[in-house]
Amino acid sequence: MKAAIIGYGKMGREIETILRERGHEVALIIDMDNAAELDAAHLQGIDVALEFTTPATAYRNIRTCIECGTPVVSGTTGWTDRLAELQALCRERGGALFYASNYCLGVNLMFRLNRQLAEMMNRVGGYEVRIEEVHHTQKKDAPSGTAITLAEGIIDRLDTKQGWVNYAPGIEHAANRVERSEETPADCVEIRSVREGAVPGIHTVSYESEDDRLEIRHTIKNRRTLAAGAVVAAEFLCGKRGVYGMDDLLK
Ligand SMILES: NC(=O)c1ccc[n+]([C@@H]2O[C@H](COP(=O)([O-])OP(=O)(O)OC[C@H]3O[C@@H](n4cnc5c(N)ncnc54)[C@H](O)[C@@H]3O)[C@@H](O)[C@H]2O)c1
Repeated sequence: MKAAIIGYGKMGREIETILRERGHEVALIIDMDNAAELDAAHLQGIDVALEFTTPATAYRNIRTCIECGTPVVSGTTGWTDRLAELQALCRERGGALFYASNYCLGVNLMFRLNRQLAEMMNRVGGYEVRIEEVHHTQKKDAPSGTAITLAEGIIDRLDTKQGWVNYAPGIEHAANRVERSEETPADCVEIRSVREGAVPGIHTVSYESEDDRLEIRHTIKNRRTLAAGAVVAAEFLCGKRGVYGMDDLLK
């Protein structure tokens, strides 16, 4: 597989290592300083591009890949209100796009467990649900894409919840922000965001009643698991057309 890496930061570098370990060629690396090189001429002959950049640049990068006919795997978070637009463009152009808010296998198992648990809680009642996500201090978006996926799973299965808000003390750029936990409306899932140290990612879904608390928690120990998942997704996408996510890969 002849791959392009778009975004040569923490994830891009980890992905490069895994691509080489698995015998793939890294034929093009794009970062901020050579961003103008992301064009049809440089993408010629590339089998797949892996895009891990920033919330402000992901849309344009993925769009360029689709327009140039290059299959693209993206994991950039914090911009996905426009994902459906790109998925539609991809279908229209007969391209290939794989997107996941989290490429770690364990997290994707947690997504399934989360939906099943919400369904059971919907029958039982009496518990208040909350999500907490902890990440390193350089993370640009809040809440994390993974926490949003967890919230969406709960909203889909729990009749009492219609949306989510983000309680993110000290984080300026948080989406759907509430200033105090007490402001969380009863029909919203509260996502609490914490930024500390170099934490790659901890997600906890907790259900609390008057008498007990039930938690499911996932802790990422290193970025390697995320990069490996993205490379497996790229191998999966090669030679395919259409729009895919982790559920398709795990089937
Ligand atoms: N889906 C997942 O499993 C997963 C896992 C980890 C991180 N992420 C997300 O991936 C993104 C990148 O994470 P990271 O930890 O590597 O961040 P990072 O800040 O270390 O790297 C981002 C890189 O993108 C580069 N960049 C900025 N604008 C660019 C442009 N126009 N073209 C090309 N490159 C550009 C930056 O210079 C930087 O090197 C974030 O949104 C993060 O939340 C997703």
